[in-house]
Amino acid sequence: MQIHILDHPLVEHKLTVLRDKNTPSNIFRELVSELVTLEAYEATRNLDVVDKQIETPIATMTGKHIASPRPMVVPILRAGLGMLDGMTKLLPTAEVGFLGMKRDEKTLDIITYANRLPEDLTGRQVFLLDPMLATGGTTVAATHYLAERGAKDITSINILAAPEGLKRVEETLDPSIDFKVVVCAVDDHLDEHGYIVPGLGDAGDRLYG
Ligand code: PRP
Repeated sequence: MQIHILDHPLVEHKLTVLRDKNTPSNIFRELVSELVTLEAYEATRNLDVVDKQIETPIATMTGKHIASPRPMVVPILRAGLGMLDGMTKLLPTAEVGFLGMKRDEKTLDIITYANRLPEDLTGRQVFLLDPMLATGGTTVAATHYLAERGAKDITSINILAAPEGLKRVEETLDPSIDFKVVVCAVDDHLDEHGYIVPGLGDAGDRLYG
């Protein structure tokens, strides 16, 4: 598993405003979208492209074009939906699938309440969107759904992650899957309720609450 932490002053600035509990929902939503677009640039570094012949006004040349089958973007509802705009801004031709998942607040077990993924993801590059990778339970469960449909190239795009969750994902991951995590920052630890510390609170509530 590869972990790519965005190391950029603009990301640090936006993330600091995002974490601030006094930042209102409308600004929070804009910042999530902007941060995802910056992350998407890194997350798509190994996007499959093919040669394409074109004619410029001056000459014929061979350029590059996104390969087929199209990449797949999968936001994990509810909070991941706040990342979709920022991702599709950079990858407008991607297909979008949906997973609805919720942590039980007491047990932290994952409940899947929606699953709209294509049956066959063989050969597809998949980008999972979820602001928080906390215990890692949601990411593990989502990756399981993608892997059983044949996905082998999965990139998880998160705003924040906890070391405990990253460790769990790495330990439970099928080694045949090429799995990457792109994240703005890895925080200190998880508290007893499974919240990332210092974190930014409950991303779903701050986006939509
Ligand atoms: C939050 C968050 C992630 C998940 C991370 O979702 O958006 O999906 O928890 O936690 P984990 O790594 O411990 O699984 P939540 O269950 O609060 O649902 P929501 O997105 O609907 O708010």
